[in-house]
Amino acid sequence: MNSKDIMEKDKEFFVQGYTRVPIVLTEGKGAMLKDLEGKEYIDCFAGIAVSNVGHAHERLVKVASEQMSKLIHTSGRFFNIPQTKLVEKIAEISPGKLQYTYLCNSGTEAVENAIKLVKKYASSRGKTGAGLISLECSFHGRLGYSLSLTGQAKYKKGFGTYANAPGVVHAPVPYSYRSKLPEDEFGIETALTIEEIIDRHTTGDVAAFIMEPILGEGGILVPPSTYFETLTKILKERDIPFILDEVQSGFGRTGKMFAGEHWNLEPDLMTIAKGMGGGMPIGAAVATPEIAESVQSGDFFSTYGGNPVCSSVALENIQIIDDEKLIDNSNYIGKIFMNGLTEIATKNELIGDIRGKGLMIGIELVKDQNSKQPAVEETKQVVETLKKEGVIIGLGGIYGNVLRLQPPLCISEEQAKIVLEKLKHAL
Ligand SMILES: Cc1ncc(COP(=O)(O)O)c(C=O)c1O
Repeated sequence: MNSKDIMEKDKEFFVQGYTRVPIVLTEGKGAMLKDLEGKEYIDCFAGIAVSNVGHAHERLVKVASEQMSKLIHTSGRFFNIPQTKLVEKIAEISPGKLQYTYLCNSGTEAVENAIKLVKKYASSRGKTGAGLISLECSFHGRLGYSLSLTGQAKYKKGFGTYANAPGVVHAPVPYSYRSKLPEDEFGIETALTIEEIIDRHTTGDVAAFIMEPILGEGGILVPPSTYFETLTKILKERDIPFILDEVQSGFGRTGKMFAGEHWNLEPDLMTIAKGMGGGMPIGAAVATPEIAESVQSGDFFSTYGGNPVCSSVALENIQIIDDEKLIDNSNYIGKIFMNGLTEIATKNELIGDIRGKGLMIGIELVKDQNSKQPAVEETKQVVETLKKEGVIIGLGGIYGNVLRLQPPLCISEEQAKIVLEKLKHAL
């Protein structure tokens, strides 16, 4: 079977709910990937910010196979050792008062469980918790509440009320590129709109505010520091729990263990997945004792959540991030990319904005610097050219004009320089 055969067969049997890059991947090592025909690629997307420690890391392979040979599954009904060690580790690395972890199987589930937690927390305090606030341009998943919270219409069309859960409202996004205000002022003004949203669009009884510290799918949008300062003040004054969705930005991706650390954020709940499990399906909602204590036995359950194989791999994965100093590498290579991109931008009219932290970098392409009109077709062409030249890069942004550079955190300086050369050529 060649790649073409696989793609044709897929059309016959796989629900065609999303478009895939026409590459059949078969192997990987570190930041490299190989397809069915043997073509090699430098991976600059890490399976959407998942394979932070690199592909086929031998320590993950060893831990997974050892655990599989002992016990693959227990169900949530029994204790297992890797699970307990993992939740202890998460408490150790999480910011502020976050201590209690609920384990599940994906980012979407992490968000769904976080919402369920804040709803229960609201009712335990005699509130309805009817309202939920998220951001325009955000992404939190594609099921139920997570889809409703997602602030992008393109994911909701055709799903009626399934994509618009009652009580969910969206606040303006702190996306400063097209704003005429100075960055600091823009941050404050955008955060202040949340007060109006609470007063005009909710019953005043808001279960939580949720946001990604750096918006991933929305185009690697980095809010100004002033946004967080004003936001956290409002949430405290209004007694609204703050959920930080670190599903994409966590586990060293931005040059800190969690992106919220760039602004010293101490959320009441944090959602994690992707980079947590090195590719194994695992996610979690991490809560403060106050919120976790509102839960009673029977409120939550998962057959697979905290599965011993996924838990042992996640635990080893977190240890590898530390042992191999991948957070330092995320910062180091991130700077090499930023400097290289800034240099390319001096001679390239297409690059409108370069933003991000660590190895979560967005390059917004525009038709011209004044109108800032999104260069959608050109962005697709750059992705296509890079693919031909052996580089896999992400594409995103609310207009579809942002290149997303999110490689495994173990990417080498040499590989980064090759990517920059090829990117310069493609642009
Ligand atoms: C910030 C954020 N939250 C939630 C999700 C959903 O995660 P999953 O695809 O694992 O369900 C994603 C996925 O891209 C994400 O980026």
